Amino acid sequence: MNREAYIVGTGHCVPEKILTNADLEKMVDTTDQWIVERTGIRTRHITDDRTATSDLALEASRQAMESAGWKPSDVQAVIVGTVTPDHAFPSTACLVATRLGLGRVPAWDFEAGCTGFVYGLIQAKAFILSGLFDRIIVIGAECLTKITNWDDRTSCILFGDGAGAVAVSSQGPGGRLGSFHWGSDGNISDLLIQPAGGSREPATCETVKAHKHTIWMNGSETFKHAVRAMRDSCLLALENEGIPKSEVDLLISHQANWRIIDATARALGLSPEQVYVNIDRYGNTSAASIPIALDEAMRAGLLASPKNVVLAAFGAGMTWGGIVIRW
Ligand code: UT7
Repeated sequence: MNREAYIVGTGHCVPEKILTNADLEKMVDTTDQWIVERTGIRTRHITDDRTATSDLALEASRQAMESAGWKPSDVQAVIVGTVTPDHAFPSTACLVATRLGLGRVPAWDFEAGCTGFVYGLIQAKAFILSGLFDRIIVIGAECLTKITNWDDRTSCILFGDGAGAVAVSSQGPGGRLGSFHWGSDGNISDLLIQPAGGSREPATCETVKAHKHTIWMNGSETFKHAVRAMRDSCLLALENEGIPKSEVDLLISHQANWRIIDATARALGLSPEQVYVNIDRYGNTSAASIPIALDEAMRAGLLASPKNVVLAAFGAGMTWGGIVIRW
């Protein structure tokens, strides 16, 4: 029999502290009305000085393992999609694996911007179908507010912190990872970039003064690419899976802007009830946004079998991906 990969457990964690649009009105020249109308965001959760990405990832993973009924010795690998690791190295995955008590399992980070979680699921599926692993934890975790330019009203209103994790197994029952479509285009990489702090422009006092260690984004251009790529990824993933868009029950999209989510939903012909939206509460948490939404949807009973779910993401790179999950 062919091997399959199933999501058998989910979890998420966001920091307690909430930053509201009213708080942001005191920090930059903006209004609650502009933020809500243009993005759909009302609040976002932000970490304190003592909390880092691995702390959020750890709690999300514990929940995913608990809901899967996994002991530490069951886990064979941990992968983390993040653009805000605790350190450039060692990887956040190594820190999380050790704190989960998993022993000496392989653990590594990878970077696909806000598409990180979808890229992670595709990696997990490939590893499981190859027979290399039977049980793997996939995490999307970010502390974007640590690299936010709080003087830039065009971007600082967008971001929040959080982590989501799933347990992926070769044994169901669960959400079977179906067909997918993914891609990248480095020609437009400068539309969304953290310019300094890497080997191209190492951090100096000057780069820090110029805010070059923070997120720089051409919002309106990124928006246009996101709408096209998320629509196309979803449609191609569905075509590969051989199901019409009329059979989609739920869209769980990256939460970057409610207008992008809405455009993707319209392209699939979905009604508002068929789209999971939590951007109003969390803002854009990059690689964490889809697994947070997935865990919330799971705990709200929205994934009770049978369900055809589509995930769609777009992010820095530029990268994009869509995957069908069948519960
Ligand atoms: O997660 C990875 C992928 N990321 C995304 O997909 C994000 C995609 N981009 C977006 O979500 C939107 O482009 C933004 C929310 C970032 C911006 O919305 P927009 O509708 O594209 O606005 P805009 O950049 O075209 O700016 C429109 C106006 C400008 O004023 P003028 O030049 O028309 O006078 C901006 O200066 O809105 C102004 N503006 C603001 N006004 C009040 C920009 N930011 C703000 C603000 N408050 N916070």
